Amino acid sequence: MTDTPRTVAVIGAGTMGSGIAAVMAGAGQRTILYDLTEDRVQRGIDFVHGFVDKSVRLGKRTADQAEAVKSSLVGVTDLGELASADVVVEAVFEDLQVKKDLFAQLDDIVSDRTLLHTNTSTLSVTAIAAGSRLPERVVGTHYCNPAPLMKLVELADGRHTASWAHDATLDFLRTIGKTSVVTKDRPGFILNRFLIPWENSCIRALESGLGTVESIDAAVTGALGHPMGPFRLLDIVGMDVHWQVAMRLYEQLRDPRFAPPPMVERMIAAGDLGRKTGRGFYTYDDTALFGA
Ligand SMILES: NC(=O)c1ccc[n+]([C@@H]2O[C@H](COP(=O)([O-])OP(=O)(O)OC[C@H]3O[C@@H](n4cnc5c(N)ncnc54)[C@H](O)[C@@H]3O)[C@@H](O)[C@H]2O)c1
Repeated sequence: MTDTPRTVAVIGAGTMGSGIAAVMAGAGQRTILYDLTEDRVQRGIDFVHGFVDKSVRLGKRTADQAEAVKSSLVGVTDLGELASADVVVEAVFEDLQVKKDLFAQLDDIVSDRTLLHTNTSTLSVTAIAAGSRLPERVVGTHYCNPAPLMKLVELADGRHTASWAHDATLDFLRTIGKTSVVTKDRPGFILNRFLIPWENSCIRALESGLGTVESIDAAVTGALGHPMGPFRLLDIVGMDVHWQVAMRLYEQLRDPRFAPPPMVERMIAAGDLGRKTGRGFYTYDDTALFGA
């Protein structure tokens, strides 16, 4: 692959798809954002525009650059409009059948050399790729949340991923400004294998009264050099998402360190999901997930 802009289609305009669309458009790629309804597509486009506008206010982009980013992004609700995509990044619900069906449909729309990337957190890349007639061009690319701010992407090949697709994916991630680490197609890849048990142990420390939300966060930022503590991070991720990822990994790995602590379920029942509901471990006036 070269550094010339490509056409990148992002499927799913939720938390991750909107963030990934902001990454692609921000890196000068022609970006198509697809979701099932116009409302969801518009919500994703609004997110990207808001993110870009904020970057102008923060002096990270000029107004002209912001306009260029905005004009490189289009939203669609017809999958057929993805025909020109060089790269497709799938970021739909964490449901194996939904992802497999989507990849099967894409076979009839995009070219045989189009890279198909899945952003799954907990499912098998191999199992998702089995939905495609050409599993050799399917690669796992796990972006971190929030995608526009976090540099790292984990890359995991499926059992049938071809070396050309692996190499082209590494090259592509480099051109959009991401740092990649190569891992295996195993539950949780590298990061969630230790992040989830670690977050759970912080929640258990809170439950047992070892510290407060503030003191545990302060200990982690002060001593370990993390940019934010576990509770600030969990408020961005969302308790519902944390529960789902933790439970799916627990089911696959049968390791009790992955099982979500009871406090997670109580917070979900109370609607305290984190920033998106205005209250999680902390309270927020602004439910926007993050700044530019
Ligand atoms: N949220 C995170 O922190 C995080 C981090 C890394 C990876 N992931 C993974 O990213 C993926 C998306 O997660 P999310 O948190 O953005 O979910 P989300 O619920 O915020 O968004 C999912 C979007 O997919 C859309 N969608 C569902 N089925 C579709 C279909 N058939 N075609 C088109 N669009 C469809 C939905 O309308 C929704 O807008 C999941 O696989 C998840 O495991 C999430």
